[in-house]
Amino acid sequence: MYVCLCHGVTDRDIREAAENGVSSMRQLGKELGVGTQCGRCACTARGILRENRSQDYLSLANMLATPA
Ligand code: FES
Repeated sequence: MYVCLCHGVTDRDIREAAENGVSSMRQLGKELGVGTQCGRCACTARGILRENRSQDYLSLANMLATPA
């Protein structure tokens, strides 16, 4: 799904950027241009970044809870 029409950025592009270390809207704007023109995509893009971060925390918590 396209999130940022101004720059042709999809939700998959944002998730991929997050997996490569992008963790803030400022970084996302620098990397993909998201939110740097009309700004209508910012709320959705921020939500996708947060969702990705939550999944990272869950994975880490599961890893720490698993006995070695
Ligand atoms: S839709 Fe992303 S800057 Fe316009």
